[in-house]
Amino acid sequence: MKDQNPFETHYCEYDAWFDSYDKIYRSELLAVQELLPKNGNWVEIGVGSGRFASKLGIKTGVEPAEGIATLAMKRGVTVLKGRAEELPLDDESIDAAFLITTLCFVDELGRTFTEAFRVIRPGGAVIVAFIPQDSPFGELYGRIAGEDRFYRLATFYTKENVFTAMTQAGFLIDRTVQTLTGSPEQANDAVEAPTEGHAKGSFIVVRANKP
Ligand SMILES: C[S@@+](CC[C@H](N)C(=O)[O-])C[C@H]1O[C@@H](n2cnc3c(N)ncnc32)[C@H](O)[C@@H]1O
Repeated sequence: MKDQNPFETHYCEYDAWFDSYDKIYRSELLAVQELLPKNGNWVEIGVGSGRFASKLGIKTGVEPAEGIATLAMKRGVTVLKGRAEELPLDDESIDAAFLITTLCFVDELGRTFTEAFRVIRPGGAVIVAFIPQDSPFGELYGRIAGEDRFYRLATFYTKENVFTAMTQAGFLIDRTVQTLTGSPEQANDAVEAPTEGHAKGSFIVVRANKP
């Protein structure tokens, strides 16, 4: 129901979070920037308010909620209405697809990656940024989700869940980077530079290639 979807009704509240937690946002942006692929036809799936797309040079987004999509469009992103599980995109038409903190909101994890695989051309990449269930932020959000209008809809996946779903869809994992490696309480004190791997971070970025 549209009037029960907070990304339709309370999207300004969602978007304002990035101003309140600017150093977390900048740490996350740096981590995604570290794994940007070659230029080409890029799309962000679940583009939300376009906070990442507009800074990363992603010109097109897919988004099911028309409310939050208005903010992405104001930030200059072209938004196609649609869902990760049924992308409004042609086969092998995309050089890189991004999923940034959207995985926990999709309805079907496996279908999300098989659809991404379908639309990405051979040699292209999927870039996934997520908060793992098995991380300090993932544990915190899991605890407070019941009282949060956005996270009560979320399903947090472990790193293993995500890597397995990507691999099962046919992607080859190329590289991971991480940020927000300290405690959630201190994460907004300073911008953190990304580091290799995914053992410690609460925000993990994975780049995987379609052979
Ligand atoms: C936490 S927001 C992330 C938005 C943006 N990627 C960002 O990082 O700011 C999650 C977004 O996923 C969208 N979403 C929910 N279900 C989806 C689905 N099945 N397919 C694609 N996007 C979905 C929501 O409407 C929302 O805009």
